[in-house]
Amino acid sequence: MVYNKQDVYSIHPFCDHCIHILHHLLLLTLLFIALLALIALAIYWLFFVTEGVYLGEKVVVWLYDLYARHYDTIKDWDLQDEIEYLAQPFVALIGERRRPPLILDVATGTGRLPLAVQLSGLLPDARWVLLDASNNMLQVAKERLTSHDRYHFIHQSAQSLPFEDAFFDVVTCLEALEFMPDPIHALDELIRVLRPGGLLLITNRTGPGARWLPGRIWTRNQVFQLLKSRGMTAIGIRPFLVDYEWVSAVKKGVFISPGRAQDPLALAKLRELP
Ligand SMILES: C[S@@+](CC[C@H](N)C(=O)[O-])C[C@H]1O[C@@H](n2cnc3c(N)ncnc32)[C@H](O)[C@@H]1O
Repeated sequence: MVYNKQDVYSIHPFCDHCIHILHHLLLLTLLFIALLALIALAIYWLFFVTEGVYLGEKVVVWLYDLYARHYDTIKDWDLQDEIEYLAQPFVALIGERRRPPLILDVATGTGRLPLAVQLSGLLPDARWVLLDASNNMLQVAKERLTSHDRYHFIHQSAQSLPFEDAFFDVVTCLEALEFMPDPIHALDELIRVLRPGGLLLITNRTGPGARWLPGRIWTRNQVFQLLKSRGMTAIGIRPFLVDYEWVSAVKKGVFISPGRAQDPLALAKLRELP
């Protein structure tokens, strides 16, 4: 087929226009895909990497409620490691002076720490108060821990603890402070309810994942200074399994033995708790 010059001129302006539109459509599609990718990344970061912490306490708790039944499978803990690297050093830190201990485990989750101690067969004389803001996590903890009379479960936020000052011999909070609305205030609460001479055990997030939680984690020096400025002594910081540091400290003051696990007054106060 042969085109004459006039045909070519009559088609060309139309094609030019088409190409222009196609060009715009392509650009818009690419922008749309980039926007979708950004939204997907933001959702992944907000809900999975940082577990809802930048969206507020309600979202964090909602996510834990949602995943409570899968939490232990996701974590896939080796129980022997839990006994060796968690329960045994923890009980060694408590020592004889604070026995029989009344222990508060804040953000206990599915009861990881009390379960490790129970499995180790150590501290049979301890009494535990297990607090968590997620009802479903607490429910799993209740199912995992036998001998229920040794455990008191409290469903409530750690931002304001429902206990009087200097009530517990030992206070713990593992892998949780970074998910609280105000980690420093939560730390102050942990220290407030600890007896003078009592033992504090917390974890501080480190490792490659920590960079995705800006404003929520502390450097080793920061955590040391935070504790020191709050009257804590014997501060010990060392690596703890993956992605965390183990931070232990003793509240300044004299510990008047024994621990409160069998103190009738303390037990009466525990019974009054919601
Ligand atoms: C990563 S899990 C750690 C659980 C347990 N300590 C462990 O080591 O397996 C974090 C826990 O903190 C709890 N949590 C988050 N924010 C909280 C808050 N403001 N008050 C009390 N618990 C909270 C969650 O419900 C969850 O059970």
